[in-house]
Amino acid sequence: MNSSEDTTAIQELSSEAVPSKKDKRPNRKKEKSKYTAHTADKYELYQHAVQSPETDIDFLQRVYREINEKEAKHFREDFCGTAILCATWVKSAKDRTAEGYDLDPEPVDWGKEKNIAPLGDAAERVKIFLDDARAEGDRAPDVRIAQNFSYWIFKERAVLLDYFKKAHESLADDGIFVIDLWGGSETQDKMREKRKVEEGFTYIWDQGEYFPASGDFTCKIHFKFKDGTKMKNAFVYEWRVWHLTELKDMFLEAGFSQVDSYFEDDDNDDEYLLDNQGEHCAAWISYLVGQK
Ligand SMILES: C[S@@+](CC[C@H](N)C(=O)[O-])C[C@H]1O[C@@H](n2cnc3c(N)ncnc32)[C@H](O)[C@@H]1O
Repeated sequence: MNSSEDTTAIQELSSEAVPSKKDKRPNRKKEKSKYTAHTADKYELYQHAVQSPETDIDFLQRVYREINEKEAKHFREDFCGTAILCATWVKSAKDRTAEGYDLDPEPVDWGKEKNIAPLGDAAERVKIFLDDARAEGDRAPDVRIAQNFSYWIFKERAVLLDYFKKAHESLADDGIFVIDLWGGSETQDKMREKRKVEEGFTYIWDQGEYFPASGDFTCKIHFKFKDGTKMKNAFVYEWRVWHLTELKDMFLEAGFSQVDSYFEDDDNDDEYLLDNQGEHCAAWISYLVGQK
């Protein structure tokens, strides 16, 4: 871990530009923070700073219910990392089951210990596979998701389309496949944005140069602590930016019967509403929902 300050010139942007659905809550904790780069656990920091699992699961279950007028039971989380969404899904009802897929044993083992084991008996309703997101599933999911832009790791159209086709084929009747994405004019700018996290540390989103001919860019997450220590490059992503319209077209090409976009409600950051027009702004986050 390198605790030196990065001297790269940066453009400071509004907190709106951060590709995180996390509510920007005021930092109410006055007491000394327990976090320091010497001991902090990057997955714990990530979950506090980036993820809002209850909000995400509420959204997914609501969308499925609105489309199908019934409850979704089986869930698949691709690129699951610590599998917090799987854990939150099975906690939401006794008859719900989940499966997660990730290639990296480090977050998967962390998640099994910190997110799945504490579920007690409900842990038996979760299966985590150390496998590719394109792997054939255990059971046909009602809801399948690729969250936090993880599919941007697939930089070639044919590769991404193949993943979407596999996702489509895997779904149960009436199933939905959901991905998130972000866009807007500022999202192709090199920038660094800091946000104080309620638990007592600072989250830093470090967005590298965007190359228009390839769509390539590198994004990093750093953390900074109240004792002055820093955890640099806690997470590094080599991605291609995919645009909403091309993703919609690819969903249709992959076989989805209907594709809809959902955008943040102006009055409530936690709510995403059906909107197939969208509103141009500096930075937006959207969900694409494909129906089997
Ligand atoms: C941005 S993190 C997302 C973690 C979590 N899903 C979330 O919502 O925050 C991307 C994850 O994708 C995993 N990953 C990368 N390529 C993968 C692949 N081909 N199949 C499955 N997992 C993959 C990485 O190990 C990493 O845990």
